[in-house]
Amino acid sequence: MRLYFFLITILFCGLNGTQAYGQSDQSPSRIMLNPLEEGHTGVSVTWRVPMAVNEGVIQYGPAIPNPVVDLSIFESKEADMRIDTVEYNGVTLITKNFRVKIDGLTPGIKYMYRVGNPEDGWSEWIQFDLAVDHPDSSFTFIYLGDPQNDLHSQWSRVLRQAYATVPHAKFLLYAGDLVNKGYNDVEWGDWYKAGGFIHRTVPSIMTPGNHEYTNVILSPLWRTHFTLPENGPEGEEALYGACYYIDYPSVRVISLDGEQIDEDPELRLAQVEWLEAVLEETKQPWTILTLHYPFYSTKPNRDNPKLRKAFKPILDKYNVDLVLQGHDHGYGRGMLDEKGPGNEGTMYVVSVSGPKMYDVGDLDWMQKGGSNLQLYQVLTTDNDVLQYRSYTADGKLYDAFDLQKSSEGNILIEK
Ligand SMILES: [Fe+2]
Repeated sequence: MRLYFFLITILFCGLNGTQAYGQSDQSPSRIMLNPLEEGHTGVSVTWRVPMAVNEGVIQYGPAIPNPVVDLSIFESKEADMRIDTVEYNGVTLITKNFRVKIDGLTPGIKYMYRVGNPEDGWSEWIQFDLAVDHPDSSFTFIYLGDPQNDLHSQWSRVLRQAYATVPHAKFLLYAGDLVNKGYNDVEWGDWYKAGGFIHRTVPSIMTPGNHEYTNVILSPLWRTHFTLPENGPEGEEALYGACYYIDYPSVRVISLDGEQIDEDPELRLAQVEWLEAVLEETKQPWTILTLHYPFYSTKPNRDNPKLRKAFKPILDKYNVDLVLQGHDHGYGRGMLDEKGPGNEGTMYVVSVSGPKMYDVGDLDWMQKGGSNLQLYQVLTTDNDVLQYRSYTADGKLYDAFDLQKSSEGNILIEK
């Protein structure tokens, strides 16, 4: 019997011993990749650790075809540690996180990285692709409306189908309400579980929705989890990581904080002035705006007139190409200019990826609308054409159009 226990102990310790070289209880979790302000030359990586872990490092470099044996070929950089506190349902949660920005990367190539430290363990080696440094090259990304509910059970298949459709996508764009209760860490755990390796492989651009807010204060877990550019209205800390822009050679992606537009007149005005300045100096051929609340809703009783009154004239003036939104738990899209609906101006889209569904009305602005569908969208810019394709959760094409740039503005081509 003693020999039996001895052998069991050896076996158990042996297995534990292997953890020093791979995953351990101390190793990084919730690893998130976000683009830097210039998305084709840099990324940030954010991850969570147990409180006992005191060091965070990233090792990275161009991806190699061989097994990793010589670590000296990789760059190494210390990450910044941050401790955040969040209150939810009377319980205080304290989390420890690391974040690091790596910039000056070479566009158009594949990189690999891992995060952690030698004592507590490392993540696996993870690969990601950077966009090429040319505005006319084909450039693909994924747009997702509200995930929000039943994230692991019912939303995960949508994200995974989207990734399977275009694994070469250069970013995922989330139009808010990633979770239902933004202060509830358990839901965020579900969001990461649903995404699996995708969130550490494809950089994410996210704008917050009303469900990330409580009493008009953004959940601390937003900035705990994501490291997004702080190039929004100067000095407005409430908008950090919510109102910002990210540049790629062919696209400028601009995020507005919809909840603060709705609730806070001062922060609405700050975003109006900031957006005008940002659009004034935009040089990319394509400009895409994202925010949670729609300019035009898919149901009459969900209208957002404050948003439209403050921002629509700016979108018309600067010919914003596309507005990607959420919140209405249905699908609708239509093109409008200063005169109203038609085939000119800006294309407005509302979509939903999670399982919570609302009815969709029969509204004048919508060229296509639909309800009771979980959807993902694949967008590709290719020289002077932007291809837009919407797919249902089971991977079937649901809606398709192209925007063709011309001297008169965009031409809508239904597919
Ligand atoms: Fe919402």
